[in-house]
Amino acid sequence: MSGLTTIEEQAWCAWYAAEAYSGAGVIVEWGPWLGSLTRSYCRGLRQNQHITTGEPIAFLYDLFKWQDWCENEARGTEHEGRLAIGESFEPYFREINEDLLDLLHIRTADLSNCEWPGRPIELIINDAIKSLPIAGNTFKRFLPHLLPGKGLIAHQDFLWPTEAFLVVLMFLARESFYFEFSVPDSCMVVFRCKKRFAPEEIWFPGQFHEIPEVLFDEAFDWAFSILPPRCHAVAKLGKAVNMHRAGLLDQAREFVNRENLASSIGDGLYDFQLDVLRKWGYGELLEKR
Ligand SMILES: C[S@@+](CC[C@H](N)C(=O)[O-])C[C@H]1O[C@@H](n2cnc3c(N)ncnc32)[C@H](O)[C@@H]1O
Repeated sequence: MSGLTTIEEQAWCAWYAAEAYSGAGVIVEWGPWLGSLTRSYCRGLRQNQHITTGEPIAFLYDLFKWQDWCENEARGTEHEGRLAIGESFEPYFREINEDLLDLLHIRTADLSNCEWPGRPIELIINDAIKSLPIAGNTFKRFLPHLLPGKGLIAHQDFLWPTEAFLVVLMFLARESFYFEFSVPDSCMVVFRCKKRFAPEEIWFPGQFHEIPEVLFDEAFDWAFSILPPRCHAVAKLGKAVNMHRAGLLDQAREFVNRENLASSIGDGLYDFQLDVLRKWGYGELLEKR
């Protein structure tokens, strides 16, 4: 199944939809791209005994705009050369996932400004919060509708270093969520809604430079206290990269040196992230000193 997710993440989605999903709320997926997680949970939904409705269960939101990075990711797969840069890939998504369309409500939308009609939500799969404006809008519009006790949010990029600002956001929202599960050998971390999320009671940063150093320290200390030890090294990389993104350059470098983050450690996920970060322009931050 082509996609930008791991077999373990796909397996968790399939297991959840088959065994844990109750039907009390809908599934929302932000950023399905070509549908590797969509196909996984739909496979599970087909096996779920509780599902009797003939209506769509999963609500998908994506820009569905084919971009250079999409073509790069598609290289060498059956999707290579099928779409032009700038073209909508919603019709193509429908074509390649035709067997699932009865389960899906597919919407082309920009998650930095779209609304949610207000139905109760049992699972959100997030693979689209790539910026603070998207985070601000999605947290405000969708998260208050997660069912307390049952509702889960699975952040596919929680441990991906450039997106680890999600650690800060979930720390700010921690009164409403607790840690549920971290998918092994992956960046996906799942949280359970414990009480209704009330965005009006919480301050959220609109831009990176609004995040002070002390908030990074508190948020990542909280993350180290809830995440299994196997996740700590990648979470530290995320802290360094996001302090760097917030303009805390000296503090980020000092943290890299103190924690010895610039060297490979023989862990597949960590060493891969280090390699990608160097290619993405973080070489100076991750220089061995
Ligand atoms: C990394 S890809 C997701 C990969 C996918 N989960 C899979 O299974 O392969 C990120 C997706 O988020 C979407 N996206 C990015 N920014 C968005 C926005 N502002 N609103 C809606 N979707 C967005 C992209 O179009 C893309 O499909």
